Amino acid sequence: MDKLVIEGGKPLSGTIVIQGAKNAALPILAASLLAEGTTTIDHVPDLLDIDVMLNILRELGCRAEHVGGTVVLDTETAHTSHVPESLMRQMRSSIFLMGPLLARFGETQVYQPGGCAIGERKIDLHLEGLKALGADIEEIGNRIICRADKLRGADIHLSFPSVGATENIMMAAALAEGRTTISNAAREPEIQDLQHFLNAMGAKIMGAGTDTITVDGVQSLTPCRYKVIPDRIVAGTIMVAAAATRGQVTLLNTQPAHLSSLIHVLRRAGVQIVVDGDIIKVGCATRPKAVERIVTSPYPAFPTDLQSQLMVLLTLADGVSILKETIFEGRLKHVDELSRMGADIRVDMNAAFIRGVPRLYGATVEATDLRAGAALVIAGLAAQGKTVVEQIHHIDRGYEKIETMLSRLGARISRYAPVPNN
Ligand code: UD1
Repeated sequence: MDKLVIEGGKPLSGTIVIQGAKNAALPILAASLLAEGTTTIDHVPDLLDIDVMLNILRELGCRAEHVGGTVVLDTETAHTSHVPESLMRQMRSSIFLMGPLLARFGETQVYQPGGCAIGERKIDLHLEGLKALGADIEEIGNRIICRADKLRGADIHLSFPSVGATENIMMAAALAEGRTTISNAAREPEIQDLQHFLNAMGAKIMGAGTDTITVDGVQSLTPCRYKVIPDRIVAGTIMVAAAATRGQVTLLNTQPAHLSSLIHVLRRAGVQIVVDGDIIKVGCATRPKAVERIVTSPYPAFPTDLQSQLMVLLTLADGVSILKETIFEGRLKHVDELSRMGADIRVDMNAAFIRGVPRLYGATVEATDLRAGAALVIAGLAAQGKTVVEQIHHIDRGYEKIETMLSRLGARISRYAPVPNN
């Protein structure tokens, strides 16, 4: 397994262009199945999760190429709607394929995407939504068989604004007969991006970004060319890293409105942030201040995907901060690893009480999930001495060549791959 070795203590400095959003690209790739023909998607990041999605699409019979950030996907040759269990298990987001496959083929067979390091991740809202559109769903062990001769629009109220369920229902409803209304829909920017993509293919969807989405089903969709939005979580990770290392970084190709909750928290911590169009400048010359209370919640509140990274900054802040995780029950596993680097954190249920320390110290630590891994990299950059981050395949799921990106900002970070045995 590869690992990252970081010599900490050097402030990040320089300019960086933010990659395309993984969480927007994945549903958009799945949605491409709704139109027969060749769709071109630009600004697709080069990540493990994207590779898995493209491999699944190839397994279904599509032709897919990913070169220089552009995916060219020919879905005309797709001939099966059955996703093999081995591929389903590699990535939870494979569940996005249910809606498009059902709409295109009238049936699909997938598998439970399985457990997850950050806690139980149910798919009941996905299944209830598809059932409301007229699908017959049979669960045999891990296998989920879904059939619908005809999908029909429906009023669907989500008991929780699930990002994935909102997206799955939007995709299936795009080709359903009549109007679908999704209330208590998730409002994440990636959902707006999916709406823009589907509408570019000829769908009639309104309301993404609000809690009510209306989909007027159309008979068919046509392939298009589309550019994915910038990754707000990668941008947020770099912003926190700049602040934690007391650096000065300029981020290009961002959508600052998507980062307003983070910008607000960082400013409360005393970090200087200047926003100018799609550029964000982050600087932090002095010790950050503790932030009394931050709670992760669905967008536009503070995102769970930036909770672990922000925690690193708070471990170095002056005073006591409280960070509460409400989206995933198992998402505080990085606390043990940060404690091994000298952080002073007490966990009570889903809340972390963080007493800032003057510095962290390098250690050998293990990434337990994607964002926890990114947090440990930030901790390593800010710490005194050498940090080794293991299990970095988690990080490669969401950050394009993280060591190259950070080296360009002056970080002393290298990847070591094991020497293969003969
Ligand atoms: C998406 C993001 C992920 C982010 C999460 C929350 C992608 C590819 N991933 O994941 O990075 O952390 O949003 O912002 O976009 N739930 C149910 N039943 C369901 C679906 C979800 O109970 O049918 C629960 C989950 O267990 C979890 C919560 O709802 O506790 C949030 O899940 P959801 O919004 O669906 O997240 P994902 O779409 O999986």
